[in-house]
Amino acid sequence: MTRRTVVVMPGDGIGRVVIPEALRVLDAVGFDADYLEAEIGWSCWRRDGDPLPARTLELLATHRLGLLGAVTSKPKVESEAELPEALRGRGIDYRSPLLTLRRHFDLAICLRQARSWAGNPVNHVRRRVDGTVEEPQIDIAVFRQNTEGLYAGVEWTDPPRAVRDALALHPRFAPYRDVAGPDLAIGLRVATREACRAVLEAAFRYAEARGLGTVTLAEKPNVLRETSGLWGEVARSVHRGHPGVALRESNIDTLLLELVRRPESFEVIVASNLFGDIVSDAAAGLTGGIGFACSANLGPDVAVFEPVHGSAPRHAAIEPAIVNPCAAILAGALLLDHAGEPELASRVRSAVAAVVAEGSARTYDMLGLRAGPGVLERGAIATRTMTEAVVARLVRT
Ligand code: IPM
Ligand code: MN
Repeated sequence: MTRRTVVVMPGDGIGRVVIPEALRVLDAVGFDADYLEAEIGWSCWRRDGDPLPARTLELLATHRLGLLGAVTSKPKVESEAELPEALRGRGIDYRSPLLTLRRHFDLAICLRQARSWAGNPVNHVRRRVDGTVEEPQIDIAVFRQNTEGLYAGVEWTDPPRAVRDALALHPRFAPYRDVAGPDLAIGLRVATREACRAVLEAAFRYAEARGLGTVTLAEKPNVLRETSGLWGEVARSVHRGHPGVALRESNIDTLLLELVRRPESFEVIVASNLFGDIVSDAAAGLTGGIGFACSANLGPDVAVFEPVHGSAPRHAAIEPAIVNPCAAILAGALLLDHAGEPELASRVRSAVAAVVAEGSARTYDMLGLRAGPGVLERGAIATRTMTEAVVARLVRT
């Protein structure tokens, strides 16, 4: 097998802390790969007015596997203020390089696994009517359409005349016709048959390969009659090719209600971009939080893996580092699956499971503490210690 090259983009803040930990685990499990570091994020924005340098895109196009830490985003005014003087006032607008990457490489499928790691003290629990407490075993895969929907970016405040005229063709635009331009913001929700099909197909295949019984579509067809209508139609058509897996069509609101009440009743959830963003955060919140949430952005040629958490710049300055490296380590496991190394991936997950179950290695988030330099005195362990615990379990398997 050819040796792989992974383009490593630590990015900003705690991205720079957790990515080296993920690499330590990939090395320890015996993944045969070279690593090339590439720039992304806030420092590139501040220097060049572009958070995603062309060289990073080239490296990804060549090597096809990316591991991303986290990138900082700031609102419009703050972003502009941090540009070099020569670049200010030229209308250069910050856009998250993560969104640009998804678009550029058509990373149209986002897979986020939310699994409760037995023994994590912050796992979701529920009180029964008799007062006893139960801790459901949750294992959910969210397949999020990653490039379209409300993230298509087709929006205006004060839409141009031609847009207003076109919108006026729709009878339901009538109540807004006389709203003054600056008082009107419009965004477009885009669904294309092919993008819906691709993510649904991936979800059904994932369920089939694991012997799972259901795929749930999270939409809102009673209100969003056209876009959700297309999702439902395509879901039923893709389902015909996978008769062994049931399709549940659910409204996003009732799905969330059911998710927080009985998360264990979900296996695979498919959702459009914004719904998937929301559902995957909710699922992460039920399974140990952001310290364990990992994500795969999958395209036809390139795939980029990342912890879901942000760059948390304030936490990055704490010495020794205290953030939980598990999300990045588990992003590494997703990368291993994708690189055709499922056995290595499962060794990494088993090691994380064993460390959490054993009970002595707890980063601050697992103890419900607020991040700060004092957490080590209150029983939390440092980032590096957590990685070492995972690596020690790897070796013993
Ligand atoms: C995520 C994040 C991104 C998103 C942001 C950072 C643009 O929340 O990956 O879920 O909304 O997709
Ligand atoms: Mn998100």
